[in-house]
Amino acid sequence: MTLITEQAHSWVNGNPWQSQRQLTVHNPANDVPIATVSIADHEAAEQALNAAQACFDILKQRPAQQRAEVLLRWYHLILDHQAALAELMTTEQGKPLSEALAEVRYAAGFVQWFAEEARRAYGEVIPSHSAGHQLITVKQPIGVVLGITPWNFPLAMITRKVAPAYAAGCPFILKPSEETPLSAIALAKLALEAGFESAAFQVLVSDDAAALVAPLLASPVVRKLTFTGSTAVGKKLLALSADTVKRTSMELGGNAPFIVFSSADVHEAVAGLMIAKFRNGGQTCVAANRVFVHQDIHEAFTDALIEAVEKLRVGDGLEANTDIGPLINAKAKDKAEYLVEDALSKGAQRVFQGTAGAGHFMAPTILRGVSEKMDIYHQEIFAPVVSIIAFSDESSVVRQANDVKEGLAAYFYSQDVSQIHRVSMALEYGMVGINEGAISNPVAPFGGVKQSGLGREGAKEGLQEFLESKYLCQKFSS
Ligand code: SIN
Repeated sequence: MTLITEQAHSWVNGNPWQSQRQLTVHNPANDVPIATVSIADHEAAEQALNAAQACFDILKQRPAQQRAEVLLRWYHLILDHQAALAELMTTEQGKPLSEALAEVRYAAGFVQWFAEEARRAYGEVIPSHSAGHQLITVKQPIGVVLGITPWNFPLAMITRKVAPAYAAGCPFILKPSEETPLSAIALAKLALEAGFESAAFQVLVSDDAAALVAPLLASPVVRKLTFTGSTAVGKKLLALSADTVKRTSMELGGNAPFIVFSSADVHEAVAGLMIAKFRNGGQTCVAANRVFVHQDIHEAFTDALIEAVEKLRVGDGLEANTDIGPLINAKAKDKAEYLVEDALSKGAQRVFQGTAGAGHFMAPTILRGVSEKMDIYHQEIFAPVVSIIAFSDESSVVRQANDVKEGLAAYFYSQDVSQIHRVSMALEYGMVGINEGAISNPVAPFGGVKQSGLGREGAKEGLQEFLESKYLCQKFSS
């Protein structure tokens, strides 16, 4: 199957959407146009909505076993096409090919997991409050789902929403990022080939997200919104969902602390930070954003980190040996450069800067002496820039780590068992890596607290986000 041609389409009810208006997708490594995609307008959204509503009647009747089998076929098709999907992803998103391949497998992992979970949407029998009554709960699919996904993980952020929705019996309308719609379209084609009903997974591509999404969110047919993206956009979507009281899952921004205590193995901590910071060139919500290092090991840690970062090669993700691809666009680079300049102007020191070509490439950079008065401390950097902050005691570093509005991921390195227990319990975050920099996994619940979001993805929790509990109270006549 040809996954993508130079002319791609939004995908409505199993058919390519024909439209006069096109969006051009560019390769962020060189700004060369890759393909044009037909834009989904108001008419496309309305047709998608009607088709999804009709599809729900079919999908909810389908036995879980059948939905599981379709998902399993989708899983195998994704893996069969992994090389092509990875190349497509690198071309439209920029990440190194090895990371793109890892993401294809990560994305497929969600499909496999939810194929298995589809058959475990158990209700309960509740011990009754009175004789002559049976109390049970059954799980039912919530209905039509709208998903909005970002460009940083063009496949995995989609499968971890669409797979549980399908497992539960919910049709899905996706608005992928306009930066990376091609991976989404390729996934939808494979889903159709796997046996998805024509309206079970539709893709609406648009360069005007607000215009496309507002009527969908106003519609009572859409019963659930699932979103991965910034906290600012998430708040607007929550407000738009309020009028029809939709269920929402919100995977929003992070500001991850990465704490290295004095008992830590410095080399292990550096190895963990290299993953937690430089995966996808720093463009992840779980990226280490504030690196707190105990003053006793600050010098040793910084030296070891510089030695590791010096080896990173920045370049086109399709070239062998590239470790860091381009940032997604000029705006992303401008923001990262502003954050570095702001920090330097307020007293941070740049202790390392690598090299990078022109365009959207950014050289890996290490700053130390970062403090709360700098914007880089409070904003998601989303670039290969490390900000180091020295600390002297556990309680103050935990307070600093928690003293932000986000609460997605946190990491810490320590060999002190009591400290590991205390700090794990005290960190106000949805996910904590302990002596580990890579925490994301389809079998574990991904999500944050505070302004980092609502709900969890992956794991057994991920399926529940698309199910309603219905309580049945039955009286028996004596
Ligand atoms: C994200 O950055 O939004 C997701 C990262 C992950 O799944 O690890």
